[in-house]
Amino acid sequence: MSVEGATITPVRLGGVRGGPAARTLRRDRWWVQPAISAVVLTAFVVYSTWAVFVNKDYYVGAAAHRDLISPFFSPCITASCVAGAHGTFLVITWWHITPALLILGGPLGFRLTCYYYRRAYYRAFWQSPPACAVADAHTRYTGETRFPLIFQNIHRYFFYIGLIFNVILTIDAVMAFRLPGDGGIGVSVGTLVLVVNAVLLWTYSLSCHAARHLCGGHVDAFSKHPVRHRLWRLLTPLNARHMQFAWVSLVFVALTDLYVRLVASGAFTDPKIF
Ligand code: FES
Repeated sequence: MSVEGATITPVRLGGVRGGPAARTLRRDRWWVQPAISAVVLTAFVVYSTWAVFVNKDYYVGAAAHRDLISPFFSPCITASCVAGAHGTFLVITWWHITPALLILGGPLGFRLTCYYYRRAYYRAFWQSPPACAVADAHTRYTGETRFPLIFQNIHRYFFYIGLIFNVILTIDAVMAFRLPGDGGIGVSVGTLVLVVNAVLLWTYSLSCHAARHLCGGHVDAFSKHPVRHRLWRLLTPLNARHMQFAWVSLVFVALTDLYVRLVASGAFTDPKIF
C-alpha cells in the first residue's frame, strides 16, 4: 500500500537470530534492564538458598518476648522445627532436613511461572530476546508450546497456592503483635516488617494477571456481572503495576528473612515501638 506524498525510508534490519554481532540497531543502553534483572534474581537465589539450607535462626520466640517467623520457613510443619515455630495441626515427623524445602515449591512455582518474571528471566539469562528490537541469542525459537516450558501454563494454579501462603503469612503478621511476657500485645519493628511483607505479597498476588482474569475473564457483558466488574476495576490499576510489585515484594521477602535471622541470632534486639 502506498500513501500519496509519503517519503519512503529504507530500513536495514541489523538483527540476526543467534548472530554473534550486529544484533540490533538500538543505540540506547538496552542491556541495563536485563543486567539489573540478572543481578537481583541471582542475588535472591543465592541468598534464599543459603537461608534455606543454613536451617537455623528463622524464628524468634517467647524467650525473646516475640513471635516472629521467617517467611521462608512458614508454615513450619515438621517436628524438627524449632520450638514454638510449628503449629499443632500438621506436624511431619519423618522429615529431618530443612523444613523450608517442604513448602518453598508453592511460592517458588508462583514466582517462576509469573508472566512478568518469565519476561525478566528469559531476557536476563536466556536472552530470548534480551530486549525489544534486539535479536534473540538463539537460532531457534520454540516458545512455551512444548516441554519443559509448556508447564508455565500452570501459573493460574500456582496463583491459588500463592493465596494460601498469603493467608498463612498474614496470620504470622497478626501473631507478631503478640509480645509474650512483654506486655502481651504490642508493636515492634519486627511486627511492622512482617505486616509490610504480608501487604506486599497480597499486592503482588492481586496484581497477577490470573487474578484479573478470575474477575473479568469469560464475561461477555460486564453489565450482567456488576460484582465481577467492580472487582476487575479494582484489580486493573494494580495489574498495571505488577512489575513493581514483583520486584518490591521479592526483595522485601528476603529482607524480612534477614531481619528475623538477625534478631534470632542475637545480632540485635527487635525494638519495641509500643
Ligand atoms: S502474572 Fe505475575 S504473579 Fe501472576
